[in-house]
Amino acid sequence: MQLQNLLYAVQDGVGVVTVNRPKALNALDTRTIEELGQVVEAARTDASLRALVVTGAGDKAFVAGADIAHMSALSALEARRFVDLGHRTLAALEALDVPTIAAVNGFALGGGCELALACDLVYAGEKARFGQPEVNLGLIPGFGGTQRLARRVGPMRAMELILTGDMVDAARAREMGLVLEVVPAGKLMEHVLGVARKVAGKGAVCVAQAKRAVLAASDADLATGTQLERQAFAVLFGTEDAREGMEAFLKKRPARFQGR
Ligand code: CAA
Repeated sequence: MQLQNLLYAVQDGVGVVTVNRPKALNALDTRTIEELGQVVEAARTDASLRALVVTGAGDKAFVAGADIAHMSALSALEARRFVDLGHRTLAALEALDVPTIAAVNGFALGGGCELALACDLVYAGEKARFGQPEVNLGLIPGFGGTQRLARRVGPMRAMELILTGDMVDAARAREMGLVLEVVPAGKLMEHVLGVARKVAGKGAVCVAQAKRAVLAASDADLATGTQLERQAFAVLFGTEDAREGMEAFLKKRPARFQGR
């Protein structure tokens, strides 16, 4: 499928996917989500990729939600297919071995907030606004918001956003733990690419293992999670990167990781 609603470029192991429907504030219709799935699959199978940045085109919106015009014509059955597609796509994004970083440049509402929540790290520009306004449409979050938001900020804060439909600004989103850092708007991509490049310079195998173990922390019980950590720790001793990293430290030189 030719990309119409997304831009995707990779430079030095860092992919940047940009939702590009500025006239609809980058809202997600079926085609846009399918294209996102395609980019996620390309990222999954790109052995040289080390990090993936997700952002929105223009200076107004990251993603203002699922496309309401598109949704308004759906039957219940079609709505089920639509949310299944959204869930599958965000789950695939979340499951990527490489770290995913949301650069939230503006409105991140509904499905847009859920897209950010499916990313490992979230940074916001000063103008960013977050919310789950579905209740204003007689709906509820449909791309994982009730689950991932509660896990990220706690059930009561999630409940407040989801039940009131209110938006919060970037500073409040940071206080809630929805955002790591708020960056001046013009510096957001520079900041996020700096973080992406830093992670890209580490060993890809240990980064993937670390990501998997931390993701398990929201779902697994402590015994299962720590078991996973111990196993992953031991497995890493079979990688060239761990040998290189420890040897480089002992020889007082920078490590050169190959992702093996
Ligand atoms: N779907 C479709 N079109 C959208 C949209 C959306 N989610 N958000 C904005 N747009 C469109 C507007 O219809 C408008 O189009 P026209 O110029 O053709 O009229 C254009 O983008 C610009 O938007 P506004 O004129 O409304 O801009 P504003 O600055 O006055 O307001 C806003 C900005 C507060 C973000 C407002 O657009 C808004 O409230 N958008 C809807 C947000 C929302 O409810 N998101 C949740 C959707 S449901 C969902 O996401 C379900 C799920 O979990 C899967």
